[in-house]
Amino acid sequence: MNYLEVDVGTTSMKCTAVNDNGILFTKSISYPVKYGNFGMAEQNPWDWYYSFKKIFQEIEFPIDGIGITGQMHSLLVANGRHPLMDSMLWSDTQSAGLADYLVKKFGISELVRETGNYPLSNFTLLRLLWIRKYLPEIYRKIDMAFVAKDWLKYMLTGFHGTDVSDASGTYLFNVRERKWSSMMFKYLKIGENLFGHSNESMEIQDEYKGIPVIAGAEDQEAAAFVAGIGSNECAMSLGISGVVFSIIPEYRLPKNRSIHLFCHAEANKWHWMGVTQSATSSLDWFMRTFHIDYGRLRNISGDTNIIFMPYLNGERAPIMKPDSRSMFYGISSNTSRDEIILSIMEGVAFSLKHVYDSMGLKKNRIILTGGGTKIKIWNQIIADVFNMEIDIPEDSGSSLGAAMLASSGKLRVYSEPEKYFPVNHSSYIEKYEKYKKIAKSYGNCSNLPPPPVLAGQSHLLFRLLCIQVIYH
Ligand code: XUL
Repeated sequence: MNYLEVDVGTTSMKCTAVNDNGILFTKSISYPVKYGNFGMAEQNPWDWYYSFKKIFQEIEFPIDGIGITGQMHSLLVANGRHPLMDSMLWSDTQSAGLADYLVKKFGISELVRETGNYPLSNFTLLRLLWIRKYLPEIYRKIDMAFVAKDWLKYMLTGFHGTDVSDASGTYLFNVRERKWSSMMFKYLKIGENLFGHSNESMEIQDEYKGIPVIAGAEDQEAAAFVAGIGSNECAMSLGISGVVFSIIPEYRLPKNRSIHLFCHAEANKWHWMGVTQSATSSLDWFMRTFHIDYGRLRNISGDTNIIFMPYLNGERAPIMKPDSRSMFYGISSNTSRDEIILSIMEGVAFSLKHVYDSMGLKKNRIILTGGGTKIKIWNQIIADVFNMEIDIPEDSGSSLGAAMLASSGKLRVYSEPEKYFPVNHSSYIEKYEKYKKIAKSYGNCSNLPPPPVLAGQSHLLFRLLCIQVIYH
């Protein structure tokens, strides 16, 4: 049986076909993110659609099941098959101030009781409230809303709905009961069918060209599913964002309020997830801005005293501060370019450890996935900072988790992982303590100034104000 994984990623569409013998086909097509003022990060959904179509027509063998995965917490609002604006991405922080609105309206204990989570600007609902407040002309026309992967699914099959893991990240879901939260919809006066159905990840929702399409799962969930983690391991992703992921056997609130509690792709299981907003995107920002070739990383060595705080796009955990920004601490007139590059990789490793510690985890092994694992020196830094064995599954860039879900968990793609062991933990102990001290000085609460409210709320003019920088 051949299964197809479709990953609606933040930077590319990646499709991978796989069966019990391994990978049969893999192809990706990149597309841009539009970054702008006030924390804007958006993407044209037609890029997802046409990239998928282009790749799919190259597959020349039968496919028996499709699993779609993708970036979490995004919001695409539509009227029928017509998107009303670009999709707001998980990294968009324009709605930062609206978390306080929810807290005032419901009270924090009621919110946490209902959704299992503290409100964060990264959650889908906050974007919807932002559109309602700042783009009312668009809001009035909305009759359907989607998280990224579910819009593609809708365009391919006509099915309007999501899965329990992606629904968890909307902040409109009762994570304990694994169903939409009537309370949130009712009291916020949002139509209860706005996001359609919600199903368990492995349930079939519809067909595309006669091929069953399952509900699927969000990308971090899919990556953790393929890693096959048990109680002694945690999954960690070194992708555009950095994620620490741990399965919990029963519904239990984490101690730290910045850690998410979401439904796992296997029925009756949940997971905790802590996210540092900018992992590979930190390094990518530096390499791109200063025109440095990635090949340079092969020869990088030495050490650095500089401490980098990876808060380019604000931070989510363990400090919840969407309006925080990055810094390099300790630069002198002797600082070299390589030291700065090293400090970026170390800063991201510290940030992941900071998240891990805040979750109170005590694991024996970390299964590391994501595009950043291609950089060997970074894997070693992580093993040293954590003082733990790091295993990297082959082809960890494409998680294949959604393909495994499409096979109802029967498909097992196993390869011997690449292993990294700590060799230099002692040199990071003091530096990590310093990192935490600096992080603490960033404080613990957040509030971005609201974007300017324009007379008459002309959304066209407003969009022009927002869109300042477009990255390709
Ligand atoms: C997870 C998150 C990101 C995206 C990246 O909560 O926001 O990791 O899933 O695609």
